[in-house]
Amino acid sequence: MFNTNEIREFQQLETPFYYYDLGLLKKTLDIYTANLKKYSYHAHYALKANANDRILSIVKSYGLGADCVSGNEVKLALESGFDPSMVVYAGVGKSDKEIRAALAGNIFSFNCESVPELEIIDSIASSMGKVASVSLRINPDIDAHTHKYISTGRSQDKFGISTWMFQDVIETINKCKNLQLVGLHFHVGSQITDMKVFEMLAKRVNEIQSWFFEKGIDIQNINLGGGLGIDYENPESNPISDFNTYFSIFNKGLEVRPGQNIHFEPGRTIVAQCGTLISRVLYVKFGRGKKFAILDAGMNDLIRPALYQAKHKIENLTSTGRIMKYDVVGPVCESSDRFSKGTLLPETKRGDIMAIRSAGAYGQVMAMKYNQRDLAPEYYSE
Ligand SMILES: Cc1ncc(COP(=O)(O)O)c(C=O)c1O
Repeated sequence: MFNTNEIREFQQLETPFYYYDLGLLKKTLDIYTANLKKYSYHAHYALKANANDRILSIVKSYGLGADCVSGNEVKLALESGFDPSMVVYAGVGKSDKEIRAALAGNIFSFNCESVPELEIIDSIASSMGKVASVSLRINPDIDAHTHKYISTGRSQDKFGISTWMFQDVIETINKCKNLQLVGLHFHVGSQITDMKVFEMLAKRVNEIQSWFFEKGIDIQNINLGGGLGIDYENPESNPISDFNTYFSIFNKGLEVRPGQNIHFEPGRTIVAQCGTLISRVLYVKFGRGKKFAILDAGMNDLIRPALYQAKHKIENLTSTGRIMKYDVVGPVCESSDRFSKGTLLPETKRGDIMAIRSAGAYGQVMAMKYNQRDLAPEYYSE
C-alpha cells in the first residue's frame, strides 16, 4: 500500500497521473528472469503493454528482448537499445513501410500472420537485397476463456494462420527465395487465469510442430506469446503472477527438440501491478438510488473498464469515514466513462485522492486526448 509520504506527495501534485512502483517492477522481473534462467527460455517484452522509457530501460536491463506489433514499436525498441537480434514483430496488417523499416533494422523475426503477408515481405526483402527471418504465427483454435476482445487464438479470430492453410504456407515459403523460416509463434489471448489453457497450448504446439517435422521442416524457435493474467482484485496480497506454475506447465508439457529455443512475450504480468492511476474526486452527486463519485481521471486516461468491462480495484487514500457504495465515474462525455459500479469506499468527498490499481499495463499506453483532455503525466517511486 502507499505510505503516508507518498500520499502526502500525491496530494501536492496536479491530478490525474500515473504512478509507478519501480521496486515492484524489479521484484517481478527478478522472479520472471529466474524462471527463464532455470529453463533456458528467452523472453521478449510486449511493448504494447507499456512503452514508457523508464520502464523499457529497466526491462531491457534484465536482458529481455522486445515484442512489437507495429512499425513504430519496432522503431522505439531499436532506439531504446534493444538488441535487434531479440526483436520480434507480429501484427495482421504490417504496411510496406513498416516491413521495409524492420528489414533495415535486421530484427530477429517477423511473426507472419498470412500467406499474402509472406509474399509481400519476400518481395520487399528481395528489392532490398535481404533475406527476412520469418516465423509463422499459428492460430491453434484455442479458447483462452478470457474477454472476447482479448481472445486471439480461436479460429474465428483475425490472428494467425489456421492449420488448414499449412500446405499453402509451405509452398509459399519454398518459392520465396528471400524468406527464411526460423520458427512458429503462438499467442492465444491475454489476462488468462485458467492455467489449463496453457496446458492445452503446449499440447497443440506439440501436434503442430510434429506436422512440420514430418514434412522435413526444422523448427528452430517456438514462441508461446504472452497472456498470463494478473490478480486485479487483490493487487496488494497477490502482486506477482504465479510464474513458477506457468513455466513448469511448459517445461512439463512441451516437447522441445534438440537445439530448439523457447520464447515468451510477457506484457501485462511484468508491468500491470506496478502502475496506479491517481486521481482526485471532483464531486459527489446523487443519482436514483446511488451515489456517484466523479473523478478527474476518465476513460481517456484508462480505457480498460469501458473497452473490456475490466474491473480495477479502487481505493480512497485519504478518507477513513464509514463505508458507503459508489459508482466511480470520470468526467468524459460518455456513459461508458465509468470505472466501477456499486464499489464500497469510505465516505468520499471532493478533494479525496483515489487510486485505481493495476493500471500499469494497457493503461497510459492506450490514453488519448478525447474531449481535448490533457494526457496524464507519469511519476515514479524512484
Ligand atoms: C502478439 C502478442 N504478444 C504478446 C502480447 C502480450 O500479452 P500479455 O500482455 O497478455 O502478456 C500480446 C498482447 O496481447 C500480443 O498481441
